[in-house]
Amino acid sequence: MSRQVRILGIAGSLRRQSYNRATLRAATQLVPEDASIDIFELDGIPGFNQDEEQNPPAKVTELKSRIRAADAILIVTPEYNYSVSGVLKNAIDWASRPYGDSAWNGKPAAIMGASIGTVGTARAQYHLRQMMVFLNMFPVNQPEVMIGNASERFDAQGNLSHEPTKEFIRQLLQNLVDWTRRIS
Ligand SMILES: Cc1cc2nc3c(=O)[nH]c(=O)nc-3n(C[C@H](O)[C@H](O)[C@H](O)COP(=O)(O)O)c2cc1C
Repeated sequence: MSRQVRILGIAGSLRRQSYNRATLRAATQLVPEDASIDIFELDGIPGFNQDEEQNPPAKVTELKSRIRAADAILIVTPEYNYSVSGVLKNAIDWASRPYGDSAWNGKPAAIMGASIGTVGTARAQYHLRQMMVFLNMFPVNQPEVMIGNASERFDAQGNLSHEPTKEFIRQLLQNLVDWTRRIS
């Protein structure tokens, strides 16, 4: 692939001052020059209902087409009760259905996450990696960007300010772009 790598970025929090949304914003500034990140906001994605999967809400149809148009996916997940957030899981489920029409199939991916706890969403990220097995996605393995103690890594305006964390994100995005070019 010689053109720009188009990455779709999704953060699994709706919170205005979300650390994960701020991390995704930071990623748009740290992406390699031969790639770009387009953000999809999850507000408006309803709880998954299989009765509606043949005729999904417009926001779900938009999500699926944005995933399909992307070369790679970047998911930034919070950790809620040791797993991914409900809003993120609902979005994953909607876009995976109906059976045989999953938008995620075959997509290269990268995972990041920020939490106020010390382990920086590690448990949620491993749940997400497990989901990616069934979704037939191909996440890069390293570096694992697990941002713990988030309250110390963002400035008063809510922007990521911790330089070593930015460097990890830069490296993860470079690896995602290299990986996407290699398997496309
Ligand atoms: C319902 C709920 C469950 C949470 N569970 C965890 C958890 O299991 N592990 C953790 O590190 N933080 C947990 N937290 C704290 C989150 O890390 C913190 O709220 C974080 O700011 C959420 O991400 P956001 O800033 O992107 O909204 C939880 C928060 C909520 C609201």
